[in-house]
Amino acid sequence: MTKYLVVGGAGYIGGVCVEKMIDRGDEVVILDNLVTGHKENVHPKASFYQGDKGDSLLLDKIFSEHQIDTVLDFAGLIQVGESVKEPGKYFQNNLGQGIDLLEGMMRNNVKKIIFSSTAAVFGNPKEVPINEDADKEPINPYGEAKYFFERVIKRFSEAYGLKYTIFRYFNACGATTQSKEQHSNESHLIPLIFQAVKGERPNIAIFGTDYDTPDGTCIRDYIHVSDLIDAHLLAINIMESSSENEYNLGNGNGYSVKEVIAAVEKVAEKPVPVVMGERREGDPARLVASSDKAKKELGWKPKYPEIEQIISSAWEAEINPPALKN
Ligand SMILES: NC(=O)c1ccc[n+]([C@@H]2O[C@H](COP(=O)([O-])OP(=O)(O)OC[C@H]3O[C@@H](n4cnc5c(N)ncnc54)[C@H](O)[C@@H]3O)[C@@H](O)[C@H]2O)c1
Repeated sequence: MTKYLVVGGAGYIGGVCVEKMIDRGDEVVILDNLVTGHKENVHPKASFYQGDKGDSLLLDKIFSEHQIDTVLDFAGLIQVGESVKEPGKYFQNNLGQGIDLLEGMMRNNVKKIIFSSTAAVFGNPKEVPINEDADKEPINPYGEAKYFFERVIKRFSEAYGLKYTIFRYFNACGATTQSKEQHSNESHLIPLIFQAVKGERPNIAIFGTDYDTPDGTCIRDYIHVSDLIDAHLLAINIMESSSENEYNLGNGNGYSVKEVIAAVEKVAEKPVPVVMGERREGDPARLVASSDKAKKELGWKPKYPEIEQIISSAWEAEINPPALKN
């Protein structure tokens, strides 16, 4: 049976990947240092190693104990604001340890990787929807570390024949029957709105209401985590014949902050306490993916394109927290 190493498999998106792989009968190994991941997210049917993706000895141990076909690297620190304050931490973890992972793979002759990159590599895009060829000019260390690592992957591909798929996610959200978003130090809009609805925070702030958008608030692209992982599973197939792949992954529909808040109010049937704030520096008016390439080449189609569907699944998980199957 083919074995996959899911690095960061105790986190939100990696956890959903493990869940879907195990549901379809794959054998899965997880490597996660649990810095932001959760022990209870570790699927009981996966082999689990706790440690850093930069730990060469541990990597050699994992690759000698398991016949790994493909590495899926979801592991990373994800707070943009923190990356501005502590850039070294982000370059070390997201870039430096990523290189250690690649070196470990090459030492052990593991030649396929799927990497979680981000829309943040584009910085302030000149055109929307954003396609794969758009200029990559990240404006913070988080986006920069991801972009530099994309380039390192390409160099490893040239030098050693590494096959890769790079996915640049827009805003991953929603829940499955077994996993939900639970970031410590939450910075994502939908979970923050839920906290406001549940009285766990006094309100949700809308940063800027004078953008050049229909309702004046920023527009972002929200993609259901289950759709996002479906694209990874399709990429595994195409990597048999196609070595160098990169895709932007969003559902292609932009929703404004006000639209997201209204959708939560509708789904939760509760008012959301809102305060209006000033624009934040570096927040572009619109960030929407063109996912045409992923659709065309992978045959991928989001099953949850509507914001209300995404929020319903997340809210359901908020009320009835999901649990992993034994
Ligand atoms: N959540 C989003 O909307 C979003 C958007 C764009 C890109 N991404 C990328 O997707 C990936 C997964 O994001 P997430 O939302 O699931 O975050 P998460 O924090 O829930 O998961 C990240 C996991 O990686 C682990 N980890 C971090 N550094 C590690 C290291 N050096 N060695 C081993 N394990 C390590 C953490 O413990 C955690 O379990 C990240 O790389 C992130 O940059 C996420």
